[in-house]
Amino acid sequence: MARITAGIAASHVPAIGVAFDNKRTSDPYWAPVFKGFDWVKEFEKDEKPDVIVLVYNDHASAFDLSMIPTFAIGCADEFAIADEGFGQRPLPPVPGHADLAAHIAQSVILDEFDLTVVNEMAVDHGLTVPLSLMFGEVDKWPVKVVPIAVNVVQFPPPTGNRCWSLGEAIARAVESFPEDLNVQIWGTGGMSHQLQGPRAGLINAQFDNAFLRDLVSDPQRLRLMKHIEYLRESGSEGIEMVMWLIMRGALGSNVEELHRFYHVPASNAAVGHIVLRPT
Ligand code: DHB
Ligand code: FE
Repeated sequence: MARITAGIAASHVPAIGVAFDNKRTSDPYWAPVFKGFDWVKEFEKDEKPDVIVLVYNDHASAFDLSMIPTFAIGCADEFAIADEGFGQRPLPPVPGHADLAAHIAQSVILDEFDLTVVNEMAVDHGLTVPLSLMFGEVDKWPVKVVPIAVNVVQFPPPTGNRCWSLGEAIARAVESFPEDLNVQIWGTGGMSHQLQGPRAGLINAQFDNAFLRDLVSDPQRLRLMKHIEYLRESGSEGIEMVMWLIMRGALGSNVEELHRFYHVPASNAAVGHIVLRPT
């Protein structure tokens, strides 16, 4: 049977991708950011996951403002790298796992979570920056990816509670897939940041560190946190963190924290990263 062996969260700041692609990872500004992901790169070499269920958000790349699914699942064999206005990042295309994706779609939709099924889509920095952080430079990605895209760009995004419950449904789906697969679930985006308006540049390290802590010690507080609190405390783009709750919901009631990293700033955002093991 397939099993979820770890949950990983990481920010997806696009400038991290630009620094990575331009070999600026040792620059004084960027070195501390990339160093924070040395641990997980070794972890992934040891763990050798077969598939990542990668929860992320599209930034008007695959879906423009004419159509924004609340939750979507990528069921293709391969996902192209999006051109976000400056050309594609120089990365290999992202391999999908069409059989597992179709199984998750069937299981989760019959479990009453109405995912949009997407059979062709390009993936943007929301998905590719975490892949670069976790696996470094590659000719070919060492895993397959089932992308789960979540709307956090146009109000109303889903609630934390709904995200958590979707994570539980994804876990049920994975655990009923007959193939013996080592599956990880990743929640990406965040942490606090605001890219627009009078509060542009906002970062709230106290809020972010409490969020990291409570993923382990009080996840029910996070599950019930309202959109207004994300907005007030973590800026207008901090709502990306609801995606971490899909990951956390999929891990069950108790987790062990294996690794944590927090750094400010990278571009306009706080970078957070945590590695959790279901117990
Ligand atoms: C930045 C962060 C994001 O999450 C994003 O999607 C775009 C820009 C930033 O910090 O610049
Ligand atoms: Fe973003």
